[in-house]
Amino acid sequence: MSGTHPQDLGLVTLRLPVGAYASILHRITGILLTGAVVLGVVLLRDSLQGAGAFRQVAGRIGGPWGHVIGPLAVWAAAQHLFGGMRHLAHDAGWGFGRDRSRAAALTVIVLALFAGLGALWAWP
Ligand code: HEM
Repeated sequence: MSGTHPQDLGLVTLRLPVGAYASILHRITGILLTGAVVLGVVLLRDSLQGAGAFRQVAGRIGGPWGHVIGPLAVWAAAQHLFGGMRHLAHDAGWGFGRDRSRAAALTVIVLALFAGLGALWAWP
């Protein structure tokens, strides 16, 4: 087969527009958020077993894993929230021009990064 069509569509070599990354991140963070909600409910349930259990959960949240999972969950929530607003804006017919689309996707990613870094900085 001959022609000028691309031969290699490998995910690593393919350069996608920033909007595509925002969409992929939206899917990934949707899945992460589902896990975060389950984890949050389990931690809340455990913390309600008594004063000792509450202190134990608080210790876990303030521990090394808490410092990884907590800010990651905040980043995922921010990325999904802002990304969801971008999707809803698209549904309303806004943000399809190339420049506007790029700017919106980049804004979503940068704002979410700031939220995640802020959470990392402020984590107890
Ligand atoms: C705990 C809260 C949430 C969870 C667990 C969650 C989870 C998910 C998941 C798993 C998907 C499917 C992703 C995919 O397959 O592409 C999704 C899609 C979506 N979510 Fe959320 N979500 C949450 C909150 C929100 C919020 C607050 C918004 C509004 C800003 C939102 C807006 C959307 C939209 C618009 C889609 C569809 C995106 C598309 O058209 O591809 N979500 N969500």
